[in-house]
Amino acid sequence: MKLPVWLLKRLPIVRGLVRRLEDLHRFAHDPGRFDGNLNAVLRLHDCLPLPPALLRHRVSGSVNPEEFVHVGKRCFEDVNAAVRTIGLDPSGCRQVLDFGCGCGRTIRNFHHGRTAATHIHGCDIDAEAVAWCRENLQGFAFEVIPTAPPTAYAADQFDLIYAISVFTHLPEDLQLAWLAELRRILRPGGVLLATVHAPQLATGIPGVDTEALRQHGYTYVRGYGVDGLPDYYQGAFHAPEYVQRAWSQHLPVVAVRPKAMNGHQDVVLCQKPGPT
Ligand SMILES: C[S@@+](CC[C@H](N)C(=O)[O-])C[C@H]1O[C@@H](n2cnc3c(N)ncnc32)[C@H](O)[C@@H]1O
Repeated sequence: MKLPVWLLKRLPIVRGLVRRLEDLHRFAHDPGRFDGNLNAVLRLHDCLPLPPALLRHRVSGSVNPEEFVHVGKRCFEDVNAAVRTIGLDPSGCRQVLDFGCGCGRTIRNFHHGRTAATHIHGCDIDAEAVAWCRENLQGFAFEVIPTAPPTAYAADQFDLIYAISVFTHLPEDLQLAWLAELRRILRPGGVLLATVHAPQLATGIPGVDTEALRQHGYTYVRGYGVDGLPDYYQGAFHAPEYVQRAWSQHLPVVAVRPKAMNGHQDVVLCQKPGPT
């Protein structure tokens, strides 16, 4: 049988579609082992492209695509829920910053249901991750920032800044320097949500100075380094009393919510003084 020319011309498209449907079936069956064209599958779901395994691994230590998407959604929901507990309506925020956004695990979820008046920014020291975000996540503003302040953001710019698993990796001086900068770029009444590792999470971790943690409420431990990130990027642990005392010198701490981020890290909520 001779196929009509119009159909012959479309055969590659039809074959591509069949391949995607097969991929979709394999992905649905066993997402953890899926090694096909996941971006195509996600697009078929009307979702966003997925960063390469190397970048996913850099932010989470895992390359599992389903976990990346799931944790990102959960973090997004947890940010929204946590800020509501101190009276901030996330849908009313016009300027939001994901500080240390990595390859966009959380920020990508702002894609749904946002209004044109909302400006969502993401920044990170990881130029590769930011380049991927710029190319693949449309409608956001991404910036590469230096490892230490300042940023190029304007004073009083943001209603909400969130930093998921960033302060969990910084040495004390850098952590305090960033808090001062985040205060500068928050508007009066604006909120910073940052996550920390509670001291209990240090139990059994080799090299942790438990005495320093008990007395000072903060400790920094080597052995958490990640390929592609600077040497200072290690592990940090914070007691709630330390956060209250040390962070409040820069930004008043209004609440510490144990395990409120993905059921694991503690959430610290700070608010810049001024009219809300
Ligand atoms: C564990 S990852 C979390 C990324 C992202 N928040 C998420 O939840 O997927 C920590 C991020 O902090 C970034 N980071 C490292 N040093 C930083 C610094 N000095 N200032 C801001 N971000 C930094 C890293 O590049 C990395 O993307």
